[in-house]
Amino acid sequence: MKQVKAEILLNKEIADSHFKMVLDLGKLNLFIKPGQFLHIKAGSAYDPLLRRPISIHRIGSNPNIVELLYKIEGKGTQLMSRRSKGTYLDIIGPLGNGFKVPKGQSNFILVAGGMGIAPLMALADNLARFRKRIITVILGARTKDFIICKKELRDIGAKVIVVTEDGSEGEKGLATDVLESIIEQFDLRKSATALKKKHAKGITIAEYGPEVGLYACGPLGMLKAIAVIAKYYTMQAQASFEERMGCGVGACLGCVIQTKAGYKRVCKDGPVFDLEEIAWERD
Ligand SMILES: Cc1cc2nc3c(=O)[nH]c(=O)nc-3n(C[C@H](O)[C@H](O)[C@H](O)COP(=O)(O)OP(=O)(O)OC[C@H]3O[C@@H](n4cnc5c(N)ncnc54)[C@H](O)[C@@H]3O)c2cc1C
Ligand code: FES
Repeated sequence: MKQVKAEILLNKEIADSHFKMVLDLGKLNLFIKPGQFLHIKAGSAYDPLLRRPISIHRIGSNPNIVELLYKIEGKGTQLMSRRSKGTYLDIIGPLGNGFKVPKGQSNFILVAGGMGIAPLMALADNLARFRKRIITVILGARTKDFIICKKELRDIGAKVIVVTEDGSEGEKGLATDVLESIIEQFDLRKSATALKKKHAKGITIAEYGPEVGLYACGPLGMLKAIAVIAKYYTMQAQASFEERMGCGVGACLGCVIQTKAGYKRVCKDGPVFDLEEIAWERD
């Protein structure tokens, strides 16, 4: 973890209130894991006082060049959107644990609800570096205008299933509706031989095996629904969680969530947690 002045190489609106920012972190030789985030001082003075956490969206072939994807929510992200190319952002990072990819896993289902694609794109990029990995991404959004990264994901060889709440593109409904139907088609509780006979939405079931893992980021309700699905199918599932943050480094306890093992800090112990760790019933 380092504190640096990162040069803004690009800060561009790519959809209504959604921005892509490219940063040069300098010659730090950082090792960044997908799922980690940067803690950003959004303004140039002390307002807002607290930094804003933003996930690392993509890592360049030069690992010091990173992309962020962010949506204007309030003052901090509004200020970020006004920063111009060539100026510097005060950042601390990389922070957090990042996604863990278990050995032997070869099938990956990534479920992104809205801006949830921000950290999942970095994970997809990383997974795609290894051959024989099958990556399916469910991109859920309110409308077609907020479907982000469809082309980038297809370019790296991922299968993309689009779901919109209003049906303006892809399936109509929620990302979790499609997730369940995909899993049902290759019923993880049946043998691989039986799976080969089935097909789901153009996806050959033979391509999947029991080594399938779920990775998610999005609204809490979506993560809770995925936790239920993952438990039913006994699948390994991880998700990146969001909480309002203070220090970002584990000192203030401002970002805790309840897990079965007690409170954990999203900034330091997370933001990625196994979904079965979370104490959902205490919400
Ligand atoms: C680990 C982590 C990674 C994140 N990655 C991204 C990302 O890649 N792209 C992105 O657009 N956003 C991301 N977020 C959310 C982002 O940090 C908040 O949207 C941002 O801090 C809001 O700041 P603001 O000053 O613009 O809004 P504020 O004025 O602080 O708040 C505006 C609204 O956003 C809500 N909010 C504020 N902070 C958070 C938060 N941390 N989590 C959930 N809701 C919040 C508030 O409750 C309020 O309703 C991430 C959050 C975390 C914890
Ligand atoms: S933000 Fe301070 S402990 Fe997480």
